[in-house]
Order: sequence, then structure tokens, then C-alpha cells
Amino acid sequence: AAAYPQLKRDPKFAQVTKEHVQYFKELLGTESALIDGINADAEDDLAPFNGDWMRKYGGQTKLVLKPQTTEEVSKILAYCNEHKLAVVPQGGNTGLVGGSVPVFDEIIINTARMNKIRSFDDESGVLVADAGVILEVADSHVGKHGYLFPLDLGAKGSCHIGGNVSTNAGGLRLLRYGSLHGSVLGLEAVLPDGTIVNALSTLRKNNTGYDFKQLFIGSEGTIGIITGVSILCPPRAKAVNVAYFGLESFEHVRRAFREAKGQLSEILSAFELMDGRSQSLVRESTGNKQPLEGDYPFYCLIETSGSNAEHDIAKLETFLEHVMGEGIVADGVLAQDETQIQSLWRWREGITESLSHLGGTYKYDVSIPLPELYQLVEDCKSRLTEKGLVGDDDSFPVRAVVGYGHMGDSNLHLNVAVRQYNKEVEKAIEPWVYEWIAKRNGSISAEHGLGVAKKDFIGYSQNDTNIKLMKQLKDLYDPVSLSYLHRLFTREMENF
Ligand code: FAD
Ligand code: MLT
Ligand code: ZN
Repeated sequence: AAAYPQLKRDPKFAQVTKEHVQYFKELLGTESALIDGINADAEDDLAPFNGDWMRKYGGQTKLVLKPQTTEEVSKILAYCNEHKLAVVPQGGNTGLVGGSVPVFDEIIINTARMNKIRSFDDESGVLVADAGVILEVADSHVGKHGYLFPLDLGAKGSCHIGGNVSTNAGGLRLLRYGSLHGSVLGLEAVLPDGTIVNALSTLRKNNTGYDFKQLFIGSEGTIGIITGVSILCPPRAKAVNVAYFGLESFEHVRRAFREAKGQLSEILSAFELMDGRSQSLVRESTGNKQPLEGDYPFYCLIETSGSNAEHDIAKLETFLEHVMGEGIVADGVLAQDETQIQSLWRWREGITESLSHLGGTYKYDVSIPLPELYQLVEDCKSRLTEKGLVGDDDSFPVRAVVGYGHMGDSNLHLNVAVRQYNKEVEKAIEPWVYEWIAKRNGSISAEHGLGVAKKDFIGYSQNDTNIKLMKQLKDLYDPVSLSYLHRLFTREMENF
């Protein structure tokens, strides 16, 4: 069920008519390029586009458009601008903050058919591709040339690289390969009035004025639709090792992280945190046997990626001896081959899906200084327990309070799994959780974005001046506020 705060459909937007659909049909030229719920009942076909991955957010569009070229996107937006038709850009629809689905009846502009790799230069490692290329497809393509896409995440089989750039997704190896603000070299995008912005540079360095692409990275479709991406890919590591540890306390995890940074330094490619509950959830939903015998309150997954297997193993063995010998980690296992690497990673990557089987999930993707990273989970658990909301039997709305995340980036995922979405639980967590984060100068969205889930809470992580500047930029790129592309800022901006 939709869970929007009191948003009202803006009457300035027109309803989609048969004439509008006819225009789009002629423009796109093929039946497979649109799902038309105006001329026929297409509810079932529209449903996967109208609802989000978490089954939490959703709208009632009657029209999905799937353009194939930048020119088509440009014509669609120009037409929507002229006819006051609201739109929402959509990639793989794996976003976790409700930004990829309509709020009301906005036309969905989906990038699934914009799926061409435009070029790959195997000397520089620069990939240029359409926004709708699936992340895993992009990675396999550069993999054939000995390169790696510098982003990896659990949704790689469905998310689009345009969606990744629009959300500035962080993922599992940011600690090693950095943020998309560094690896994206150029973008092509279409502004709400149809103007094509060509900033699709393949250059590593280009200090000639404002760097337009940076504004699109992480702007969640609010200032335009990304149609092409140019990105620098690093060489694929020849030697990859993965270790999985059980630890007695969060303090031990912090010590293990310090040691990993110090001893594995340039080969460390991931340091991920999972609490005990997150791992029992994966066990319950997959039926798989956990990698370690005992039960621990904390687990972590460490990955190294280097160019020389012998060198890496030597380093890793010294590290393992040290952390085991000093009692920093209680138990551990080192993957012996690619299959074991994949299966250890599933204990981390599978958490999101395991949670989704429980009912609903309130997700808080936050940046907090490392010393207090896990305290948020403890405090949230205590709060919900005090309020009598957590318990094993069906009378309690909360089934689990879980923490995991990208320890290497100080990025915690606090997840509260409920039997079904429940206002009492939501009120018990929000805005308390945002106040908790703001007191520590953290961020209320480390990597998932604001979407509709967090747009009303932006003030906890950005000051008034910054929000005002964002509004000015929004007005510059989208002066007529064509669509709910501006919806991120509607509420906050009423105060300015
Ligand atoms: P969508 O969900 O379709 O869209 C996301 C937002 O971007 C929306 O606001 C949409 O309007 C906008 N948008 C999409 N395409 C465009 C475009 N071409 N131009 C302009 N705007 C556009 N995120 C992380 O950061 N790290 C993770 O580790 C991570 N792991 C995940 C694991 C799972 C199992 C799932 C389901 C999600 C995960 N996510 C993670 C969330 C996440 O944001 C992404 O999966 C991904 O970046 C979204 O890409 P998408 O193509 O699905 O975009
Ligand atoms: C992850 O790190 O697994 C993703 O960001 C998804 C999530 O938060 O569940
Ligand atoms: Zn994450």
C-alpha cells in the first residue's frame, strides 16, 4: 500500500489522454516501447512498474514509455513539458526510497530499452554506455577485456547504470574503488524541457569550467534524465580472496577493521559488517548452513583484490594469524575457490532479500562516525522493546531489528522488519532516528538517496542555505517544474 505523507496531486498537471498516447506511439514506433493502460486495461502489465521493490511505495500510472534513444527521451520530455504531463524516470526499479515509482499517475519513462554498450577502450578502461544497461551486463562486458565495473551491489542483476548514477549508489567496494563522483567521467542527460546536455567526456582531466555531470550524480532524476554514462573501469584483480569472521563485540569489529586497513591496505577491497540477527535471517530464508559453527553477535566479511596471488596470500595469512592470535576475531573461514567466494558473499548480499520475506521493512541507510555506528541499532532495539513493539509471536508488529552495512565507509543499514507496514512502529522510529543521526552529524541517507521516503527529513542532514541552493539549481534546470521530478523538494521549499 502507498505510504505517502499528505502529498496532493498538483492540479496543474494534465491527465494522460488517448491523443497523448497516440503521439507517443507514433514517436516510439513499436508496440513493445510502451504499456498503454489508457486504451485498454493493462493493470497487470503496469503493476511491476507502478510498485517498488519493497512493495512499500507505488502509484497508478496508466502509461509506461520505453524509449530507445536519447532523441526519443528528448522528444518525450519536450512534449510532456508542453502538455503539462508529469513523469518519473525509472531504471531497474530496485531503489529503496520510493523514488523510482509514480506518486500519482505520472508517466513512467523507463530506460530498459536504452541498453547499448556504446564503446569500450581497453587501453584507458573507459566504458561508454546507455543509461539502461544492466550493471551486471556492463561488468561482464568490461570483464571480457580484463576490467571491472567500479561498482557492485546486490541488485546488480536488475539495476541500470543510469539508476546507479542517479542514486550515486555506493555498494560493496566503495572503500576500494571510490564513489561514482570520482569514477564517472561524463554523462549525457536530457533536461525537463527536452534539451540534451552532452557532457559525455571520456577524459580523466577536464578543468574547463563547471563540472555539470556532478549535479546529476545522486540527484535522483530531479533535474533531468540521464541517457548515457562514461565511466573509468579499473583493471580486474587477478587474485581475489574472501574471509568471513565471527566476532564477540562491535569493539572487536572495529579492531579488526583497523588491522585490516593497516595490514592489507592497498589490497583491501571490502570490509562488510553483519550482525548475528542478519545472519540468522539469511539462514532461515535460504536454509543454508552458516559458514561458522558457533553463533556470534557480529560477523564481518573481508575481501582482498590484488594482482599477485602469492603476495596477497602471504599478507592475508599474516593478517589472519594476527587477528586470530590476538583474539580480535573469534573464528573465521577463508574461501578456497571462486564458488566459496560467491557463497560467502551471499551471506552479506542476501540480507536485503531475506528481510523482504518477513513482511515489510523500515530501512535506514545512514552514515555515522564509526565508534557509534552500531549503537544506533542497540538504541533502536531498546526503544522499540520499551514500547512493547518487538516480539516473537504474531501479536508484536516488529519481527527483527537488524544492523549490517559497509563498515569500511561508516555506512550502517538499520532495518526494522515488521509483519506489515505499521504507523505505530513508524512513529516510534521517525523522527527519533533522524534526530539521533543529526546529533552525531551523520547523514540520514548514506547511499540510497532521499526518494519520497526521506524527502521530508532532508533538514536533518542539510542546512537551510544548502537546501535553498538546491532549490535554486532545481529552478534553473527545471524552471516550469515540469513534473514530480521536483517532488523531492516540494514540502521543504514551502518555507522558502
Ligand atoms: P531505480 O530504482 O529505477 O531508480 C532510482 C532513482 O533514480 C529514482 O529516483 C529514479 O527516478 C531515478 N532514475 C533512475 N534512472 C534514471 C535515469 N536514467 N535518469 C535520471 N534518474 C533516474 N544501493 C546502494 O547504494 N548500495 C547497495 O549496496 C545497494 N544494494 C542493493 C541491494 C538490493 C537487493 C536492492 C534491491 C537495492 C540495493 N541498492 C543499493 C539500492 C539502489 O539504489 C540501487 O539498486 C540502484 O542504484 C538503483 O538503480 P535502478 O536502476 O534500479 O534505479
Ligand atoms: C546493502 O548494502 O545490502 C544495500 O544497500 C541494500 C540494503 O540496504 O538492504
Ligand atoms: Zn548498502
